[in-house]
Amino acid sequence: MHLFRTKSIETITADAGTGDDPGSGQDGGVGRLRKTLSARHLIGFGIGVVIGTGIFTLTGVQARDTAGPAVVLSFAVAGVVALLAALCYSELASSVPTAGSAYTYAYATTGELLAWVIGWDLFLEFALGAAVVARGWSAYLGNLLDLPSSLFGEGAAVDVGALAVVLVLTAVAVLGVKESARVTSVLVVVKVAVCVFVIVTGVWFVKGANLTPFVPPGRPAEGGQGLDQPLLQWLAGLEPATFGVGGVLTAAAVVFFAYTGFEAVANLSEETKKPSRDIPLGLLGTLGLATALYIGVAFVVVGMVTYTDIDAGAPIADAFDQVGLGWASALISIAAVAGLTSVILVDLITVSRIGFAMGRDGLLPPVVARLSPRTGTPVRMTLLFAGLVLVMVLLFPLAELANLVSIGTLFAFVLVSAAVPVLRRTRPDLNRPFRVPFSPVVPVLSVLACLYLMANLSLETWVRFLAWLALGLVVYAAYGYRHSRLGLAERSGKG
Ligand code: ALA
Repeated sequence: MHLFRTKSIETITADAGTGDDPGSGQDGGVGRLRKTLSARHLIGFGIGVVIGTGIFTLTGVQARDTAGPAVVLSFAVAGVVALLAALCYSELASSVPTAGSAYTYAYATTGELLAWVIGWDLFLEFALGAAVVARGWSAYLGNLLDLPSSLFGEGAAVDVGALAVVLVLTAVAVLGVKESARVTSVLVVVKVAVCVFVIVTGVWFVKGANLTPFVPPGRPAEGGQGLDQPLLQWLAGLEPATFGVGGVLTAAAVVFFAYTGFEAVANLSEETKKPSRDIPLGLLGTLGLATALYIGVAFVVVGMVTYTDIDAGAPIADAFDQVGLGWASALISIAAVAGLTSVILVDLITVSRIGFAMGRDGLLPPVVARLSPRTGTPVRMTLLFAGLVLVMVLLFPLAELANLVSIGTLFAFVLVSAAVPVLRRTRPDLNRPFRVPFSPVVPVLSVLACLYLMANLSLETWVRFLAWLALGLVVYAAYGYRHSRLGLAERSGKG
């Protein structure tokens, strides 16, 4: 039963210094994060991490091969799934503001083992996310500045561009959360401005003919068997098909990647001055803005170019090229580079916060989680994860691993959504500044929608995901289980 020991809400808030008496908690010997952020910073971080590779690249392949112009609907469906989860995050993060976010909510509801699994899963989301995006960043920069492809982008044996951007952003992340917020804001302004530009300029070039049929009729797909096929297709024994309504939903699972990362806002709740108000604003503001921009940009792209002619690598820039606005391509590539830079930065900050929370609980070595007294950031944890990201950049073919980030995210969303009704039942007395409307209907819908999107991801992604979780269990058995603060307290009779 020790595997299911839970951490009480009181201990969580006292550890984080967010209880009634912030001075009285234990911090596990790691120190306290500084509370400096406001809703504006949170939306900056949120948009900073959300808008990136997803909209700038996935739109093209998914429109061309899976959904046609209806990729716009795929973005809307994925946005609604993300919104349901964001409502659940808003309730939990405003009532229990903690750097561990999903990991800590699982610790409070389902117990230590599942909390570890979620923490480990989030390492995958944010560390792998940073690595995937760093490779994309390098490819975009290489294209923009005509740099040698032997050193920049997917083709490079050693991707110097990706390594360099991770190192520079690690330095910014270590410097301080306020400093990182400043850098992020500048990058966010650039990418939002360019998305708006794409919409208001591109809309004049939208042709009705490109949008019909909006949902191309379904047809049998070539390939799409073996490990490539979605789990659902394999389970139900369906023939591989593409386009049609099924194609829209399959594409929704893939473009969901574009929404991943918004929960980083919840991981910053412990560093927020007024989490009860600012966290829901940060989460829902980020998601509302991202969804509107994604639907607008996707609509313009499929309206400007026949979906069969859409470019797979750089669909937005290419659409402007095709209508004779070549000068806009460079602008879009600059926005992509700026956009991807902030994704990597916020990924690095977030993964170090999750590691910090796990170190505070003793599931990772507290000595690695300790905050620097000078910068107030978990410097060692940030360096540790930056090292992991660098290894991933060097070793893995990252373009294929974006779906692994999505499955990790969806898995965390399932747990967070389930935690809402569980905590309502176990802790009805908890002060909830934000309440999910129509609970438990909305949380249950959120769980089902996330499971459905997970089932639309490929068998290969599932195998990789399960392998990662299995590795996590080995690490937990070898370290976390025996060093858990909660476990140690239990053994010494205080638990
Ligand atoms: N949501 C982020 C992106 O699309 C990870 O790049």
